[in-house]
Amino acid sequence: MASLAPTLSSTISRLTNLHKPSLHSAMTTLKNFQFQHKLSKPTRPFLSTSPGSLSAQMKSTLGSDDDLVVLGIETSCDDTAAAVVRSNGEILSQVVSSQADLLAQYGGVAPKMAEEAHSQVIDQVVQEALDKAKLSESDLSAVAVTIGPGLSLCLRVGVQKARKLAGTYALPIVGVHHMEAHALVARLVHRELQFPFLALLISGGHNLLVLARDLGNYIQLGTTIDDAIGEAYDKTAKWLGLDMRKSGGPAVEELACEGDADSIKFKVPMKQHKDCNFSYAGLKTQVRLAIESGNINPGILVSSATSEDRKARANIAASFQRVAVLHLEEKCERAIEWASKIEPSIKCLVVSGGVASNQYVRAQLNQIVEKNCLQLVCPPPKLCTDNGVMVAWTGIEHFRMGRFDPPPPADEPEDAVLDLRPRWPLGEEYAEGRSEARSIRRARIHPSLTSLIQASMQQQP
Ligand code: KG4
Ligand code: ZN
Repeated sequence: MASLAPTLSSTISRLTNLHKPSLHSAMTTLKNFQFQHKLSKPTRPFLSTSPGSLSAQMKSTLGSDDDLVVLGIETSCDDTAAAVVRSNGEILSQVVSSQADLLAQYGGVAPKMAEEAHSQVIDQVVQEALDKAKLSESDLSAVAVTIGPGLSLCLRVGVQKARKLAGTYALPIVGVHHMEAHALVARLVHRELQFPFLALLISGGHNLLVLARDLGNYIQLGTTIDDAIGEAYDKTAKWLGLDMRKSGGPAVEELACEGDADSIKFKVPMKQHKDCNFSYAGLKTQVRLAIESGNINPGILVSSATSEDRKARANIAASFQRVAVLHLEEKCERAIEWASKIEPSIKCLVVSGGVASNQYVRAQLNQIVEKNCLQLVCPPPKLCTDNGVMVAWTGIEHFRMGRFDPPPPADEPEDAVLDLRPRWPLGEEYAEGRSEARSIRRARIHPSLTSLIQASMQQQP
């Protein structure tokens, strides 16, 4: 992305001359400054990780009484979401437009179609979020948007919208890491949740165990070497002939309640690996084979199946779910051990991401957590699946630290090169936990959020 003149730092240095600015006055001044000095070139990359001198002052002056209103935009996968959130934690609005029908039709996310679907609804979703919040764009303090990880084509739709809006209304912009947002939304719901904490982030594309040491500072204890648990739920649903319109996970969870979880002895993945990594590809294959040998026809929807056929499918759903979650339990136990060695003060395990809305997952993990004298923190299901609230909240957390970019130029061309990060790790891998089994693709991976923030902090005077 091209550099910008004047940059945020020049804006910052003006602001730092102010005597102890309150955030509100700082932002008003920033806005006024920007209105007077229209920025004409693309900005520095998103998520300017250098807190700058403004942040140092802001940090000392921002208490819990700062009054920010941030719009969050999320388009990294198949949901188009927007929300308006106040820095006191009040959710003013929340809008999600899901591509469930497309998912049901194609049995997965097709990037080009997902991009088109986002483009069709993005304006409407953002407008609805503002309307529901009874605010207009000029009432906002900043715009936060997911810049990665995710599908490039999809990320682009949200980022373009955010930049257009921020450019038109001279609003600062915060680039957000999707998985950090899944973790941090727990701090919106449980305001007393302090760093450090352990987080299990389970979604359609990710299976992460991270030690959250501080805002923007994560150690990756484990990840998946192939598929994520959500992907396994979705394929199981598809092969079992379930109604995919509310996504595969909830459909499997519901059917599993009717089945015997001990009826099929699926093998628990990665038993022999003494690490915190995950693998769901093998379990997927076991499920497929069980379905084939059970003569289940996915072309016949479960709603039209005979009661015997339905029972057979329910048994597979329940047996799959038991083993899929047992794999989470085992790795979480080890991660608690590792995390307690690194940060003995951890008190909570945060479980978030779409799969965390599953009641069985919550109940099983609660047992592990209680056994280890920790507390389980799960956001409500609506905030576990992809949403704009988590993006707005993460934007607020970083904004308070001075990590934001200045408004883009109002006339930024549509084909401007954007800073999108489709493959963007949250943190560095825990060195002692590296596993021989890992075959994770490393090509074209962006430097981790944590390493970027650490590097920029070291550059501070
Ligand atoms: O976090 P999310 O909304 O989007 C991604 O970032 O991927 O997670 C979506 C995943 C899907 O695989 C979906 O099937 C799964 O979360 N999911 C569930 C449940 N609700 C959503 N999996 C199991 N049980 C659920 N109740
Ligand atoms: Zn997600």
